[in-house]
Amino acid sequence: MYRQAYYDEDFLNQFNTGNDFYMDDVEDSYPESIRRKSLKLPDVRSVDVSRHFTRLSEMNYSVDLGMYPLGSCTMKFNPKYANYAASLPDFRDIHPMESQLKTQGTLEVMYNMQQFLVKISGMDYATLQPSAGAHGELTGILIVRKYFETRGEIDKRNEIIIPDSAHGTNPASAVMAGFKVVEVPSNENGLVDLEALKAAVNENTAAFMITNPNTLGIFDDQISEIATIIHNNGSLLYYDGANFNAILGITTPGKMGFDIVHFNLHKTFATPHGGGGPGAGPVAVKSFLMDFLPVPIVVNDKGTYSLFYGLKNSIGKVSSYNGSFGVVLRAFSYVLKNGNNLSANAKRAVMNSNYMAKKLSKYYKIPYKQLKKHEFVLSTENTGRKALDISKFILDYGIHSPTTYFPLIVKEAMMIEPTESVTKKDMDYYIDVMEKALSVPEEELKQSPVNTSVHRIDEIGAARNLILKWPAPTENH
Ligand SMILES: Cc1ncc(COP(=O)(O)O)c(C=O)c1O
Repeated sequence: MYRQAYYDEDFLNQFNTGNDFYMDDVEDSYPESIRRKSLKLPDVRSVDVSRHFTRLSEMNYSVDLGMYPLGSCTMKFNPKYANYAASLPDFRDIHPMESQLKTQGTLEVMYNMQQFLVKISGMDYATLQPSAGAHGELTGILIVRKYFETRGEIDKRNEIIIPDSAHGTNPASAVMAGFKVVEVPSNENGLVDLEALKAAVNENTAAFMITNPNTLGIFDDQISEIATIIHNNGSLLYYDGANFNAILGITTPGKMGFDIVHFNLHKTFATPHGGGGPGAGPVAVKSFLMDFLPVPIVVNDKGTYSLFYGLKNSIGKVSSYNGSFGVVLRAFSYVLKNGNNLSANAKRAVMNSNYMAKKLSKYYKIPYKQLKKHEFVLSTENTGRKALDISKFILDYGIHSPTTYFPLIVKEAMMIEPTESVTKKDMDYYIDVMEKALSVPEEELKQSPVNTSVHRIDEIGAARNLILKWPAPTENH
């Protein structure tokens, strides 16, 4: 259905923006002086490359191997049909500078995905450009900035309010976009402390940024009241869509009163996450903010699709070309395949999370009494054991640990998000291992993991001293 469509050239020339040109022209235009004569590549036999990557893949753990309940990071099974769609030559082999006339099918996918995101979020327009959730946040907050700039208010509106349960990328994005961060505490129910919010909102407030359900897995049912407080102050309401999987097809940020939303396609639509990318973090906005979106957006003129650059107050481009099209295509495949079942996935994800929370509450403290949505947070404090030791111990049983020590407002936190793609058997096994972690001698826990290819590592050193070049020192080990 989405093969490239070929149209009559005369007809399409009417829509030609003048930006189209062909790859042959590009190649001919490189001056001889900047063309590389040789390339210094490592001289490696193909069998060694193959063994190297196979060895690495066997040392690794992935969603293809088992349950990966990394709360707030949502590691769903990545369906193979989506990879198949992304590998179709008609999509895979297009150069991003290929003529719009020849890439109508690709533009149609992008347009339909924009429209789909608009619909499920209750917004009016969307951009697919940002390359990750955090990048979507930065894009959204730059839109907030530009909005107040055009109103001549940016000198005054220089603060973004963020709850203390927020993901670290929220304050980071606000600061990167040039705002000051004002933190509001959560109340005894894990929700926004409304009195503290009212006290924090003033003429300096540009926006309030929140994810709902929040990182405790709790839906903040005060959201309409929050929207009124924020809008009455002339400020904007930003929805961090990391937890969209809990509300997909059930409610929308639009209904809750939000003005800007980002999506983490890898979380909600089962695309690969990757260490910070390649991913996709589209942003959708209400119509009064459309003019600020990054350019280009894809538009549809009676069935002909084109890239539209004419947004007067656009924040510019936030990605080269059109962002991570391969990821958008995988997400679009997931949407088409699941169709009307998207809300069933959300319900199943919520049910699984509550099943695990209930079972684990026999052994661990589950702070905050409310029903949880797609994820929940437990504390190991009551067990006298460290969350870190438990998260290392369970690796020996062939499962991935939950997000550990986040959110910061829960001591010895482990944040579990099973998603809809696990079975009861998977969850029961996980629960048994979590129980076992409390019955083994403390010493055994401290020495774990012993069955993994690497044991306890210097985590800071591993992140700071990355070795990315061949030959990898582990080759002979
Ligand atoms: C609540 C929340 N917001 C934002 C992000 C950032 O998303 P990404 O990893 O796509 O950059 C995350 C990531 O886990 C998150 O959990």
